[in-house]
Amino acid sequence: MGAHHGWVETIDYTATDVGAELRARTGGRGPDVCIEAVGMEAHDTGAQHLYDQGKQQLRLQTHRPAAVREAIYACRKGGSVFVLGVFGGAVDKFPLGAMMNTGLTVRGAQQHGQRYIPLLLDRMAKGEITTAHLATHVMPLDQGPEGYDLFKHKKDGCVRAVFRPGD
Ligand SMILES: NC(=O)c1ccc[n+]([C@@H]2O[C@H](COP(=O)([O-])OP(=O)(O)OC[C@H]3O[C@@H](n4cnc5c(N)ncnc54)[C@H](O)[C@@H]3O)[C@@H](O)[C@H]2O)c1
Repeated sequence: MGAHHGWVETIDYTATDVGAELRARTGGRGPDVCIEAVGMEAHDTGAQHLYDQGKQQLRLQTHRPAAVREAIYACRKGGSVFVLGVFGGAVDKFPLGAMMNTGLTVRGAQQHGQRYIPLLLDRMAKGEITTAHLATHVMPLDQGPEGYDLFKHKKDGCVRAVFRPGD
């Protein structure tokens, strides 16, 4: 969607070595800032994904942190990694050595709604931020189960199901 709207350059993690591609695009240095916005259900390819899935199914780890690892490995020395994706428990193979030896600043947070929602609504009201394209499936409230199913399984290109009570 970002590429379609022309906002960003995208890299397809299913078809590309993301770390190598980021190094290539940054003169071998790595990005100054990496924002992980995937969370605990990250998908991956290859052995790492089998490892994460296996450990998760055996209840030996609660999440699959592939994108967090990738962000830490990709970031430049002295750069910053922000974990925006949600995690609730323990993760395995966290690259503490890379984080420490490259002197990264790592932080995470839940969005601070009380502070930021009024600012965001104000910018939306001024037309500076548009969100209509995210509502790919608009439906009445009694189709809630179907909307959640579309969203959860990313069916029919669903980005967000929006329910309108009374429709
Ligand atoms: N920190 C906060 O305040 C805050 C606020 C909103 C959402 N979140 C969290 O952010 C995360 C993303 O939310 P969302 O609503 O955009 O979810 P989403 O399911 O709509 O999007 C996640 C995207 O990550 C992609 N993805 C999966 N594995 C990947 C990988 N290895 N590399 C790159 N991309 C990968 C998926 O294809 C999908 O497009 C969730 O964990 C959500 O809970 C956090």
